[in-house]
Amino acid sequence: MTNEERSNGSWSGQLGFLLAAAGSSIGLGNIWRFPYMTGMNGGGAFVLIYLLVVLLIGVPLMMAEIALGRAAGSNPVKAFSRMAPAKSSRTAALSGLILGGGILLLIFNNPAGAVILFLLAVLFATLGWKTVGLFCGIVPVILLSYYGVIGGWTLIYIFDSIRGANGFTTIEGAEKVMGPILHATEGRGPAVVAAQLIFMALCLGISISGVRKGVERWCKMLMPLLFLLMCVLIVRGLTLPGAEKGLRFFLQPDFSKLSTGTVIAAVGQALFTLSLGMGIMLTYGCYLDRSANIAKAAVGVIALDTFAAVMAGVAIFPAVFAMGFSESGGPDLTFKVLPAAFNLVPGGLGILWNVIFFLILMIAAVTSAVSLLEPPVSILEGECGMSRRNAVVLVTLVCSVLGIFCALSMADWNQLPGAGKLIKSIWYGTAPGSFFETLDGFCCNWILPLLGLVTALYTGWVWGSRYALMELREGGKGALDNNIWLIISGFDAEDGGMDRRYLFTPGILWGAALRWIVPILLLLAFFNCIGLIRF
Ligand code: PFF
Repeated sequence: MTNEERSNGSWSGQLGFLLAAAGSSIGLGNIWRFPYMTGMNGGGAFVLIYLLVVLLIGVPLMMAEIALGRAAGSNPVKAFSRMAPAKSSRTAALSGLILGGGILLLIFNNPAGAVILFLLAVLFATLGWKTVGLFCGIVPVILLSYYGVIGGWTLIYIFDSIRGANGFTTIEGAEKVMGPILHATEGRGPAVVAAQLIFMALCLGISISGVRKGVERWCKMLMPLLFLLMCVLIVRGLTLPGAEKGLRFFLQPDFSKLSTGTVIAAVGQALFTLSLGMGIMLTYGCYLDRSANIAKAAVGVIALDTFAAVMAGVAIFPAVFAMGFSESGGPDLTFKVLPAAFNLVPGGLGILWNVIFFLILMIAAVTSAVSLLEPPVSILEGECGMSRRNAVVLVTLVCSVLGIFCALSMADWNQLPGAGKLIKSIWYGTAPGSFFETLDGFCCNWILPLLGLVTALYTGWVWGSRYALMELREGGKGALDNNIWLIISGFDAEDGGMDRRYLFTPGILWGAALRWIVPILLLLAFFNCIGLIRF
């Protein structure tokens, strides 16, 4: 990495990276999405499948992203052109393939999808692999636009709880208070927009001070606080009479609910919650020192993320069930059922439990949102020569403006007369759903699996897994090169079998996963998401 690029900043060490990357991955995906997906998909059975998916896709892909970033030592656009020539016969073939996919979608009556693929094919033909880097800059901006709205909701919840406006104890009561916030109606639109802007200003404040002084410093303070607050809620929840019903619902395996669809849901959840498939870990990897052990770091981040997700479930379900609610249709759980349940907790400290919970949600959202700024900021710095300060301001501004559309689109597009109609016609044609939901679907169903897929293919085939493995070996020699049988059996290489030492090592497994397992699974997940195949 050149000095000029180093001025982007770097982590103070492996712990700094670990907490910042955990800050990115632990977010709404853990506290809001994971618990209700687990509850709906067979409890402990889903957790088992999820862990398997994390092992097969999450771990290799995260290691690949970090290695790619650290080896390139630069922003995603450079990373995807430095490890191999940006354009080659392979990229030409790939653009042909994407074009073919577009035609297929057109035949299957998905014109919006076809247009996206056609555009992608043209971009790929002109920019080659740099296209992938470019997407790593654009997609986080889209995601942050609606992520910021949810962040804003958490601020309103905290504020409203403190001033005593969230005293409801039934779902109907919750609907009356929360409905207008979630849908920006009944005069709450301005508050929702203001809260979203305040949330974005918080992100700007953290990010503008730099990678180490801003992102790392805040994550180092906020992540331990998040775990501490979660412990408080868990203790309260588990000591409620009837709490075990909630735990049973959350964790008892119900294998009858498992289907291939569950696996696909687990794949989507893993990518989202681990912040993969968007160049975040790649950008974070480029600030990582060469002496750091990438494999250890990746496993550490994933362990913390999974731990946080399970903790969230254990904090939420006992309270919900003990207070006589049954699990409710997915996303409503966090924003309607849980606050009502907290208000019913004996002792009358409902406000306290609600404030603690939404503080947890807000902290998780801020540290993730900050990470979403990083890829576009690093690209603007590296490719357009912008200062970090200007880049952070520009990206935050764009996300905030797009976010206003998202927030208001949950109500009715007529709140935005001209622009509303235009965006509506561009985005969803005849399909129902708000701008918010469209952006969410676009990012999670299309982009995450596709970018994850391309990152795995690029690392495994284009950069080449053996060269990528060399990058991993820097700072992490031993474990990657040991024969797995020797590790399992408790021998070490000197005990014999030296000649067979390189036959079956974690490093070799990683290469195989990147070249075959991850691409195949992600491709299946992608086809399922866009409706090309149905499991
Ligand atoms: N991982 C974050 C969460 O679980 O909420 C969200 C997220 C951040 C998704 C960054 C994707 C991403 F690139």
